[in-house]
Amino acid sequence: MKVGVIGAGQMGSGIAEVFALAGNEVKIYDVDRGQLDRALKNIKWSLSKLAEKGRVKDVEEIMSRLHVSEGLSSFQTEELVVEAVFEDFNVKAKTLEEVSRRLSPESLIATNTSSIPITELSRAVWSPERFLGMHFFNPPVLMELVEVIKGDSTRDVYFNKALEVVRNIGKTALPVRKDVPGFVVNRILFRVFNKACSILDRYTVEQVDWVAYYDLGFPMGIFMLLDYTGLDLNLSISKEVAKRGLKLNCPEVEKLVANGKRGAKSGSGFYDWKERPRIERVQGGPSPKELIEDAFREGLWLIKEGVATEEEIDKGTMLGLGLRSGIMTMGRRLGLS
Ligand SMILES: NC(=O)c1ccc[n+]([C@@H]2O[C@H](COP(=O)([O-])OP(=O)(O)OC[C@H]3O[C@@H](n4cnc5c(N)ncnc54)[C@H](O)[C@@H]3O)[C@@H](O)[C@H]2O)c1
Repeated sequence: MKVGVIGAGQMGSGIAEVFALAGNEVKIYDVDRGQLDRALKNIKWSLSKLAEKGRVKDVEEIMSRLHVSEGLSSFQTEELVVEAVFEDFNVKAKTLEEVSRRLSPESLIATNTSSIPITELSRAVWSPERFLGMHFFNPPVLMELVEVIKGDSTRDVYFNKALEVVRNIGKTALPVRKDVPGFVVNRILFRVFNKACSILDRYTVEQVDWVAYYDLGFPMGIFMLLDYTGLDLNLSISKEVAKRGLKLNCPEVEKLVANGKRGAKSGSGFYDWKERPRIERVQGGPSPKELIEDAFREGLWLIKEGVATEEEIDKGTMLGLGLRSGIMTMGRRLGLS
C-alpha cells in the first residue's frame, strides 16, 4: 500500500516507521526540513533496537521504503494519508484541505488528533466520507492499540477499510463508532485523572499512586503518569475537550504548569524527575473502587451510546493504558454495576 504521513514529529515519525515495518511504501513530509532529518535518524535508531531484539532482519531494507517529500503537492497517488501535524485546528484544517484536494476521492485520509473532533475537521476535507480518525498511541512502534474513529460523515465502507488497514500493520484496532471528545481510552483515563485530583484534599499523591499501581494494576501511579505524559499536554487536551462538553478539572495541574513544572520533561511536576521516581508502599489511601468508579461509569455511557462494546473498552484500556485487566472487568470485580 502507498502511504503518506504528514508531520514528522514524535507521532508522525513513529507512524511512518510502523507502516514501513509492515511492508508499505511511505512518503513523509514536514514543514521543518531539519525535523525530517531527525525523524529519519530516530527511525533508523529505533529499527536497529528492534533488530538487536531479533524483531527486524534488515534495517536498510525498511529504510529504503521511506521517502522524504518536498511538499504537499507530491501527495497524489497515496491510498492512505495520515496527518500528524501540530494539535492546532487551523494548521490541521489547512493541511487536510490541501492534501484531500489532490488525492483520489477513493483514498483514505486519517488524522491522528487527540482532542479535535473528526466531524469538525472533516468540514475542511474534500470528499469527507473517506475521512476518519486513526489515533495511534505513543510510541506507535511499541503500542499495539489504534483507535479508529468514525466522524459523522465517514461512510462505513471507509471505516471498515481503515479497521482492516490497522489490522494489516499488526495492530489492534479499537472501533470508535461515534465521534465523542477524547474518544474511548482518553475519556476513561481522564475520569481516573479527575477523580485522583478531586481527592487530593483527603489523600496524598503517594497514597493515590500506590493504590493505582498496587491494587488496580496501573503500570505506574496516576500522578506519575500525568507527569510522564506531560502536564502541559494534559492541560491543553483537557481544555480542548472541555470546550466540547467533557468537563475536567484539576487545579493542581494548572498550578504546577503555571510554575513551569510540566512533569518529567521539565524535571519536576507532582514528582521530582531529576532521578526517576519510584512508587513507594504507603498506608491509607482511597479504596480502589472509589478511584475507578467514574471511569467505569464512563465506560457504561460509551456502551449505552453505541460508541464501543464492553469487550472493546476492556481491550482498549488494557492495551492503551497498560492495565492488567480491562476497566470494566475491574469495576465489576470491585462490585460496580
Ligand atoms: N505525543 C503524543 O503522545 C500523542 C499521542 C497521540 C496523538 N497525538 C497527536 O499527534 C499529533 C502530532 O503530535 P506530536 O506529539 O507528534 O507533535 P510534534 O510537535 O512532535 O510534531 C508535530 C510535527 O508537525 C510538523 N508540522 C507542523 N505544521 C505542519 C504543516 N503545516 N505541514 C507539515 N508538518 C507540519 C512540525 O514541524 C512537527 O515536526 C497531534 O495531533 C497530537 O495531538 C500525540
